[in-house]
Amino acid sequence: MNDMHDIIEEIKLRNDIVDIISSYIQIKSAGLNYKALCPFHSEKTPSFSISTQKQMYKCFGCGEGGDVINFVMKMENIDFMEALEFLAQRASIEIKKGKISEESKKDINKKQNLYQINLDAARYFFKSMHSLDNSGYNYLKNRGLDDKIIKYFGLGYAKNDWNDLNNYLLQKGYDQQSLIDSGLVIQTKNKKNYINRFKNRVMFPIFDQRGKVIAFGGRVLDDSLPKYLNSSETMLFNKRKNLYGLNFAKKNIKNDTLIIVEGYMDVISLFQYGIKNVVASLGTALTIEQAKLIKKYANKVIVAYDNDEAGINATLKAVEILNGVSLNIKILNLGKSKDPDEYIRAEGLNKFSILLKNSIPLIQFKINILKQKYNLNNDQDRLLFTKNIASVIKNIKSPIEVEYYVNKISKETDISVDAINSEIYGKYYKKDEHKKEFKKKIEEIKIEKNGIEIAEKQIIHIFLNNIKYRNDILMKLDIDDFILKESKEILNYIIKSNELDIITIDKMKKIGISEEYIQDISDINIDSNINLNEIIKTLQKNSLKRKRNYLLKRQHELQRKKENDKNIEASEVDRELLDIAMEIIRLEKEMKNIL
Ligand code: UTP
Ligand code: MN
Repeated sequence: MNDMHDIIEEIKLRNDIVDIISSYIQIKSAGLNYKALCPFHSEKTPSFSISTQKQMYKCFGCGEGGDVINFVMKMENIDFMEALEFLAQRASIEIKKGKISEESKKDINKKQNLYQINLDAARYFFKSMHSLDNSGYNYLKNRGLDDKIIKYFGLGYAKNDWNDLNNYLLQKGYDQQSLIDSGLVIQTKNKKNYINRFKNRVMFPIFDQRGKVIAFGGRVLDDSLPKYLNSSETMLFNKRKNLYGLNFAKKNIKNDTLIIVEGYMDVISLFQYGIKNVVASLGTALTIEQAKLIKKYANKVIVAYDNDEAGINATLKAVEILNGVSLNIKILNLGKSKDPDEYIRAEGLNKFSILLKNSIPLIQFKINILKQKYNLNNDQDRLLFTKNIASVIKNIKSPIEVEYYVNKISKETDISVDAINSEIYGKYYKKDEHKKEFKKKIEEIKIEKNGIEIAEKQIIHIFLNNIKYRNDILMKLDIDDFILKESKEILNYIIKSNELDIITIDKMKKIGISEEYIQDISDINIDSNINLNEIIKTLQKNSLKRKRNYLLKRQHELQRKKENDKNIEASEVDRELLDIAMEIIRLEKEMKNIL
């Protein structure tokens, strides 16, 4: 990697623009993008946008924009080479030229040093596990882990010794203070001695999103307490902001879904069986930062916490937080098993996959809890149950979903549909509400279609004629956001050919764009105070609406099928209906997020 171009690419690859920008300012997710108040000019509503896919930022207020290197240059007020060096160090790539401030250099060096200590410690623990004292290795083997997975997760063993790691790291040249700062070594009470924090424990390196070791968790080999000991919070390790396993899971997202579990062993066990989109919140209550981290990589989450009282309470808290970042939530029901690790080892992959498929929506989870709480044979309990259920169902936005649950509860409890409905709606209960809602939404879209085509053609007009706006448009819109075949072709052409010039009519003809479309585009008059940002938003919103519309139609179809065809597998259809209803809600939330 000698070529400057390669170095720049590598540096950009290892410095996610979202990570970098969010370390300076507060950002808010908006679909695949993020938005924020622009740090380069003063504003009250956010017009600063970051694209995850394109790794670019752009302010639609002041016009600033560029890649991650650009951002650091402006933020730190440093030149290109300095920014490069700054990001290089952050990603542990060595480059020589250029200067950065002494202070940030010191900070970077300190962090680099801590990363290195953690890495050396991880290697040391890994080696120790295979040395003469094999108790750590035997423990992991007994828990069903194979050599491949032990290596993949870098598991190791802290020997039954107060000093070995400290001595080893000192001898490698690290100074005592750094070892204390790393959280791996502690000073004894009389301040005379330095001892290992971890002793006679199986060691789980904790990685950050990029896969760097930032801390450790250590488990005892028997039943003594504490069961797990974790590194203290350090310059590198902030428990609240990290999810165990995310570095692996983010490359294995399936079905737009991440599974969240409580513990290390759950992640590793599931991974060994081939379920790789799993992260752990590591026993602490799920934080908003962790929820945002999930949302960065997936729109759906399955909560698979332990099946004990603590786990259920943790689930109830977690779902509120996950709900807050507009994630589509389901909950896994482990039946009699204690946790996902225990389940998959006892029952195998196939059964676990079925469990995943059967994971229940948040509302059902709440209903189940209420059902356990009340004795439905007792009249007073039944009344209380109905009232409580009604307040849960009132929060559901989709009428289809409401109908589904009302019917289901009625069947399960023998409380009549009417009784539940009047508890939910009072006297305002209207039958067939969802059919009206459907019609209204379809009408809405028909009316808008004309306006959308005009907006789309305006964008293409600007796109073709004003080169300076090209990046803005490419950053905020995807080809799928456009409706007309010709618009898609033009965008495709420009992206593929990396065309930087104005696109002339001749060029459009050459790539096969129809006369009629070219005429329409040429006829468009762009008035000088046209708001590009507004048009872009119109297209973004419409794109989400189209996806929703498609789902609405499917929902309608299924509903009709269910009513007319008595032979179909009702539970399968119900499940799809429910998934669709949840996805519709999510899309509608995303629409509202576009300011
Ligand atoms: P659990 O007590 O459910 O343990 O804690 P577990 O994951 O099933 O562990 P095994 O299977 O017995 O090895 C869930 C998570 O809570 C954190 C750990 O991250 C653990 O994985 N924890 C638990 C601690 O940090 N300290 C503790 O003492 C216990
Ligand atoms: Mn366990």
